[in-house]
Amino acid sequence: MMRYYAFGSIADIDSLHLKTKNNPVPLNDTDVIVRVEAASLNYKDLALARGDLPLNNGGGEHVPVSDGAGRVVAKGSAVTNVELGERVVAGFFPDFVDGNPNGSEKSLGHELQGMLSEFVRLPAHALVKIPPTLSFAEAAAFPCAGVTAWNALIEKGELGHEDTVLTMGTGGVSMFALQIAKAKGATVISLTGTEAKKAVLRQAGADHVVNYNRITDWDRAVLELTDGRGVDVIVEVGGAKTFQRSLNAATFGGRISAVGVLAGIAGAVDPTSIIFKSLTVNGVFVGNTRMLGDVVAFYNTNALHPVLDTETFRFEEAQAAFSRLMTQQHTGKIVIDVSQDTRNKDKDPTHRT
Ligand SMILES: NC(=O)c1ccc[n+]([C@@H]2O[C@H](COP(=O)([O-])OP(=O)(O)OC[C@H]3O[C@@H](n4cnc5c(N)ncnc54)[C@H](OP(=O)(O)O)[C@@H]3O)[C@@H](O)[C@H]2O)c1
Repeated sequence: MMRYYAFGSIADIDSLHLKTKNNPVPLNDTDVIVRVEAASLNYKDLALARGDLPLNNGGGEHVPVSDGAGRVVAKGSAVTNVELGERVVAGFFPDFVDGNPNGSEKSLGHELQGMLSEFVRLPAHALVKIPPTLSFAEAAAFPCAGVTAWNALIEKGELGHEDTVLTMGTGGVSMFALQIAKAKGATVISLTGTEAKKAVLRQAGADHVVNYNRITDWDRAVLELTDGRGVDVIVEVGGAKTFQRSLNAATFGGRISAVGVLAGIAGAVDPTSIIFKSLTVNGVFVGNTRMLGDVVAFYNTNALHPVLDTETFRFEEAQAAFSRLMTQQHTGKIVIDVSQDTRNKDKDPTHRT
């Protein structure tokens, strides 16, 4: 029997309960069973848990959380891309392997049963091997936030090494964006609303840090820092209340990746600067499994490690992990240690803690 978490029929954090059921088995010859070692939380998991987003799972039991990493413990006869015992991380949209989205993509922990479970059944094409440089906890950070930052900067943002990038806050997506941009040679201006978090941004390589609560016209500060030119690429996670300032802070020909809505979903935007500055505004909705492989390989090649929050949670503490995400006191990714099987991890010389 395995343990897993499920919401009641109405999702809210208090209704999240540990349950048990039989371990999954491969149903198709292309299925893989993964023993989950670590899961990480995203803002979307919180939005679903608070009922801000509909579950879209057809009713009934719902297992939350999109991001997880673990070890292959069983596989169907046609699976050739992963071996038994191999360390793997799963794509956010298990069946979105490559190419462009068409609206039919289904994500783990939303339309599909999620990763807050000791074992999961996944299609083999959803899996990316974890390189030895990354721990399970680090690998579990990538599927949503890492892929989104990669898509926003590299695929849609067409980042060049002489570009200047603007990131917002110290959450999962933004810390990935900061690390990727610096490793690509870009200059990075990072916003934070929390004075104490400035040091984390500087440590991760930010060239300039601006407190958006103290300097509310931060678009003007960004222009001053770039000698009036503005930034080339913006990873826009604020939404309604930050978008106009992002348009103001962009340079001629700049690229804005619209990623998040932390500061609300409705608000007026004057589109004239999009026109006059020939800006490109791209919507980014995570990305495909090929991108997951690319960003994981980039971290491996550049000896990078995702920024994990200072607090890690045991499997039994999942509600507390959601509460931590809600307070926005975290930095980077909040990880839940699902297996807590230190014996198993100690046996693995590649496991990092
Ligand atoms: N489109 C996609 O594919 C996609 C994928 C992942 C996430 N998202 C969205 O992107 C956003 C960020 O996600 P996440 O998982 O990285 O969130 P997160 O880890 O919860 O990030 C929260 C952090 O963002 C900062 N923040 C809060 N309000 C802000 C504001 N008004 N302006 C600037 N920064 C602000 C705060 O950092 P400081 O304390 O440092 O200010 C806060 O700690 C969410 O809206 C999420 O839904 C979208």
